[in-house]
Amino acid sequence: MSYNSYLLLDEKTVLFDTVDWSGCRQLLENLDHVLAGRSLDYLVINHLEPDHAGSIEEILLRWPDITLISNEKAFMLMRQFHFDVDDHEIIEVAEGDTFCFGTHTVTFVFAPMVHWPEVMCTFDATNGALFSADAFGTFGALDGKIFADEVNFDRDWLDDARRYLTNIVGKYGPHIQLILKKAGGILDQIKFICPLHGPVWRKDLMYFIGKYDTWSRYAPEEKGVMIAYASMYGNTESAAQALATRLCARGMTNVVMYDVSSTNVSTLISEAFKYSHMVLASVTYNLGIYPAMHNFLIDMKALNVQNRTVGIMENGSWAVKSGDLIQKFMNDELKGMTVLNERVSMASSLGPDKEAELDTLVDAILESMDKEKA
Ligand code: FEO
Repeated sequence: MSYNSYLLLDEKTVLFDTVDWSGCRQLLENLDHVLAGRSLDYLVINHLEPDHAGSIEEILLRWPDITLISNEKAFMLMRQFHFDVDDHEIIEVAEGDTFCFGTHTVTFVFAPMVHWPEVMCTFDATNGALFSADAFGTFGALDGKIFADEVNFDRDWLDDARRYLTNIVGKYGPHIQLILKKAGGILDQIKFICPLHGPVWRKDLMYFIGKYDTWSRYAPEEKGVMIAYASMYGNTESAAQALATRLCARGMTNVVMYDVSSTNVSTLISEAFKYSHMVLASVTYNLGIYPAMHNFLIDMKALNVQNRTVGIMENGSWAVKSGDLIQKFMNDELKGMTVLNERVSMASSLGPDKEAELDTLVDAILESMDKEKA
């Protein structure tokens, strides 16, 4: 993924955030090139997580006369990380403060918990650049590009952008809504969104703002079914495939399937955010939920997945427990999950006697989709 740092060449020179330690050498080379002999006057720190703050100490060593600009919480964290900030000039800013670097005047807008408590965004009213910290970031390497309109974002980046947002700040949807509200007040002035990860936005800003709004409201992006299955010998998987086939045969072809044992949980979370419906198919394991499925459920709770319609398929050779346990988890641990009553319950494998149960679950999924449409 990319770690972005931005340099403003005004009457003063200003660096907005640094990068992970692993990218420090490249940052220093880039600074040397762009500064072209000028010194570095200011370092604005919007986010203190080490993937951005990891090179602060090196910047302080190279430019000991630099002035640091950030907020109280960020300076507290810098001291916790044992950065020598108090050997340098520091300016502590508050929400709404402004600062002028020559022709460019910036405003500091706090964005707590997007993703850490100290996070702030910096808005340059002179050119409309919003330095948005982790907000509007994405996973993925830039491969020489800088702007989102230089890539096919919808085709090549959207999945990683969703995976980034949902796994990094999925838990903090209401905090994202707050910063979207603040941005809404100056929307006509924002010309560039400059995140700390991924491409810079200078066109179609509303496309990406709209995606962030959907994700942070925990609203599904698409009507469709994510089937996540945990299978030990292929029988639960086979039943999940049979369900997918029946859904598609009935016209609901927006169906995706994931083996929870071989899929990174970050992808499972991202897909859970994307689709309106989820089917969880799990074998029973030592009278419990299969561990990889249980891990997915725990991560859903941690990242606040909510407001989805859920179907359950369970399997077991002597004591089938996984369905009840998944249902209990959905009801007790997650918010706003609607669990369909029509469960498919198998003993060891799917037999012809279960066709009616499969069809009933398909009916229930399609009916609930129709209700949501109404
Ligand atoms: Fe990209 Fe929260 O750091």
